[in-house]
Amino acid sequence: MTGLVIAVDGPAAAGKGTLARRLAAHFALPYLDTGLLYRAVGRRVLDAAGDPRDAAVAQAAARALQAADLARGDLRGPPADDAASMVAAHPGVRHALVDFQRRFAAEAGAVLDGRDIGTVIFPDARAKLYITASAEARAYRRWLEVHARDPSATLTAVAAEMAARDARDAGRDAAPMKPAADAIVLDTTTLDADAAFARAMALVSGLIG
Ligand code: DC
Repeated sequence: MTGLVIAVDGPAAAGKGTLARRLAAHFALPYLDTGLLYRAVGRRVLDAAGDPRDAAVAQAAARALQAADLARGDLRGPPADDAASMVAAHPGVRHALVDFQRRFAAEAGAVLDGRDIGTVIFPDARAKLYITASAEARAYRRWLEVHARDPSATLTAVAAEMAARDARDAGRDAAPMKPAADAIVLDTTTLDADAAFARAMALVSGLIG
């Protein structure tokens, strides 16, 4: 019997990863950052000097994915962000990753964060949150992270990259980023991590009774 599944979806830098990790710790559930799957596929394609927009190349990379790929240290940063979003638009890539995500939660339940957890991967999840924030707040948060690694990164460039990625993630035909009809939307624009967690806990507790 499947345990509790909590779906945490939303756009880049909305705070869903931090929140999902804390929910998982609170409910003693396994946690999966599903963005890492797409990042690892994108990285495999880039390593082979392939084009992430090429559906056949990206699908082959998704099928060849190994657990060790998810532990790589180079899955974040602008080239990996873009490659992940490009490979994620291919239906064949998404299809190749469905079973892994479902199996992850099959035994004990899980908290999963991503873009299509509540809509496609676990449409029957007991609790679905869609975490968002203003484009300005999200760009600023992402810029703080990127700037720490690369002091030449500008807020304008980070905001433009993020807007392009969100538009691609929301505009694709295959499992586009959007709140599930029964998801609760939580806007973290004016919330710090503790306040977002407190609000999410109240929402999830209400949903799971
Ligand atoms: O959550 P993230 O920023 O690490 O995700 C990287 C990219 O992967 C994102 O631009 C869209 C894609 N993605 C997806 O399409 N579906 C998911 N469930 C998770 C991520």
